[in-house]
Amino acid sequence: MKPLYKTVGIVGTGAMGRGIAQIATQAGSLVKLMDTQAGASEKAREALGEQWDKLVAKGRLEAAQAADHKARLVVASGLADLADCDLVIEAIVERLDVKKSLFAELEAIVPAQTVLATNTSSLSVTAIAAALKHPERFAGYHFFNPVPLMKVVEVITGLKTSATVSTELSSYARQMGHTPVQAQDTPGFIVNHAGRGYGTEALRIVSEGVADFATIDRILREQAGFKLGPFELMDLTALDVSHPVMESIYQQYYEEARYRPSVITAQRLAGGMLGRKTGEGFYRYQDGVAQIPAEPAIPVVHEMPPVWVSPRASRRSELLQLLKDLGAKIETGQSASPNALVIVAPLGFDITTVAVVERLDPARTVGIDMLIDDAATKRRVLATNPATRSDMRDAAHALFARDGKAVSVIRDSGGFVTQRVIATIVNIASDICQQGICTPKDLETAVTLGLGYPLGPLAMGDRYGPTNILEVLFNLQTVYGDPRYRPSPWLRRRGAIGLSLMHEER
Ligand code: NAI
Repeated sequence: MKPLYKTVGIVGTGAMGRGIAQIATQAGSLVKLMDTQAGASEKAREALGEQWDKLVAKGRLEAAQAADHKARLVVASGLADLADCDLVIEAIVERLDVKKSLFAELEAIVPAQTVLATNTSSLSVTAIAAALKHPERFAGYHFFNPVPLMKVVEVITGLKTSATVSTELSSYARQMGHTPVQAQDTPGFIVNHAGRGYGTEALRIVSEGVADFATIDRILREQAGFKLGPFELMDLTALDVSHPVMESIYQQYYEEARYRPSVITAQRLAGGMLGRKTGEGFYRYQDGVAQIPAEPAIPVVHEMPPVWVSPRASRRSELLQLLKDLGAKIETGQSASPNALVIVAPLGFDITTVAVVERLDPARTVGIDMLIDDAATKRRVLATNPATRSDMRDAAHALFARDGKAVSVIRDSGGFVTQRVIATIVNIASDICQQGICTPKDLETAVTLGLGYPLGPLAMGDRYGPTNILEVLFNLQTVYGDPRYRPSPWLRRRGAIGLSLMHEER
């Protein structure tokens, strides 16, 4: 297969430039490496050569192919050497002034038809293009680290980018074995924008003292099905990368409440507790292994009280069946008997509010998160209110742990952990659709490939019920009076018909 761009220049041969050079070479292009740091391009070329040799040794690449790749990966002596490139991709330092002057310089060297692309993750493509005489030939080409493994690339159209250029870059991405998604030039593009919900909401929950880092990670992994908890993820990405992204998107969106960063990460960044790479982040690392605090033991309860379930509990019939399977003595009266444990299962509301509104005895009231079907989870989450008696809390904990499923008991908060985080993710994704940043289909692709979520955010909304998500958001807004929970108009309109329907529609 002939590559769409015969000769490709890569400026900046650090982690990203190197990865892009690898897949462009493998796609059949002649790739020219250029870096201002002495010896950096040679080092990148050598490292890639060694990588191909290793693949040959493992039998995953033919020796002739490796030799062919190596012959097509060359070091440029300077920018002038890129004059014959059909495409130049920049992956240098993340500074608007430096990127602008690089492209202005490049434009004086390359012919009019050469396509120019930036791998920026946070700067405006339109702002970089302002330095160019021909901004229509310029686009964002945002790859993820490590490039060969992260198979998605955002093709970002600035205000003046031509449709031909973005279509061509998408086709070339496919030739390199990547999946392209098309994004409008907006802060964070798709992936970094859609990714705002997970960490920021989890940080918010910690800052309220609802649960600790490790508990939130456990809940989001085992109840909601995420591969990594938000704090494990931040430790992996490192706060010197993720906190500035949070700040940048918040500021670029003129302090939109949905993206508000947390003082927790600001302080930890200032204190150098960056994550895995510094040996300490939210977790401590010993020989690269996270030291995870033990879970509280399941209490031993000698006399289990009878259980009464609120008639307004969500998934009430499933909850009653679950209690029956757990061997609970279930009360069926209109109200709870004086000794009964009272179970509520609200969406969005906190346990205190529910106890007050439903006129329940708060001392005996415990909440359970029933947003997700119990059969689909590996963990149950209970919440107490400030008045809950410890014997009632222990009884609920022991009862719901009877079949061996893990149980977390958290403090009172609107929406538990999973409801808050999922509703926030779905809401932000809906707003991306509302703004027309990309198609719903590209949003789902970008998030599953770029963030590794178990489902695209719109499919997630559909799985847990768009009306449930809306109810969580409306009630969170009531509980917190915070505009961050204001449902996107897109979500409100789609609530009744499903979110991932009509994928092709903007
Ligand atoms: P890096 O620091 O590993 O590499 C940057 C390279 O560019 C260095 O070798 C440096 O010598 C060279 N360089 C700096 N200024 C230059 C100039 N004016 N001309 C030529 N070479 C120059 O950085 P990394 O991580 O590879 O990131 C590069 C770009 O990719 C940044 O814009 C970053 O925002 C973007 N990006 C980074 C991701 C990541 O996870 N590291 C993910 C997506 C995008």
